[in-house]
Amino acid sequence: MNPFLFVTDLDNTLVGDDAALVELNQKLAAHRQQHNSKIVYATGRSLYLYRLLAEAKSLLPPDALITAVGTEMYFDRQESQYDQEWADILAQGWNRPEIVAIASQFIDLQLQPNSEQNPFKISYYLAEAAAESTLTKLQAALEQQGFDIKLIYSAGQDLDLLPKNGDKGLAVQFLRRRWQIAPEQTIVCGDSGNDISMFEGQEKSLLVANAKPELLKWYAANKNDNNYLAKSDCAGGIIEGLKHFGFI
Ligand code: GLC
Ligand code: MG
Repeated sequence: MNPFLFVTDLDNTLVGDDAALVELNQKLAAHRQQHNSKIVYATGRSLYLYRLLAEAKSLLPPDALITAVGTEMYFDRQESQYDQEWADILAQGWNRPEIVAIASQFIDLQLQPNSEQNPFKISYYLAEAAAESTLTKLQAALEQQGFDIKLIYSAGQDLDLLPKNGDKGLAVQFLRRRWQIAPEQTIVCGDSGNDISMFEGQEKSLLVANAKPELLKWYAANKNDNNYLAKSDCAGGIIEGLKHFGFI
């Protein structure tokens, strides 16, 4: 067996079926120990909310942690090092106060709690019914002020404004380059809109059966041999995908 890079979203992907998670954790821990495979979590959560989940669900310590939809990256199993090289890449073309000022004109946007805001991520709640028109107008207003940034809408409720160089997918590319791991030896797993950027590269990708409509829509339009839609939910679907691609 060859080592591989395992990257997974947390909420409703790795986490959601406790029994399957125990089984998957055993397989991943053994593979890491025997073959030096790497485990990476790529979550929308802040480090603060990640820690709450990691403790509640006894998650394996990851080799790297991508939090806040790819805007923060931590190495070493300590979760302590904020990667400055990544922060410098994110800073390009980004001006937080100006972007907040533009977004604050839209009444349907409600700021998420402070813990979910960071220097390179501005997050709102946005109801599904108002989403399409708000997103179109906000995009236009940002472009008019010269901002080329990312608007990522997930699970019919969360809107993240991110630097154009920042999302989960770009964070995974950065990690692969740093560790020199080929895309064919990498698998990314997810369930919702903020995972789409991870599916757009050359890596193998796994959609859990409980994937959200926005991700299933993307899959219907983009499926190829590198994508696999599992028949099982959450960690059960991940085990299925690891077998499908021959990683375990
Ligand atoms: C997580 C984060 C939230 C974000 C959402 C979607 O729930 O806590 O800030 O908007 O993921 O990316
Ligand atoms: Mg998720």
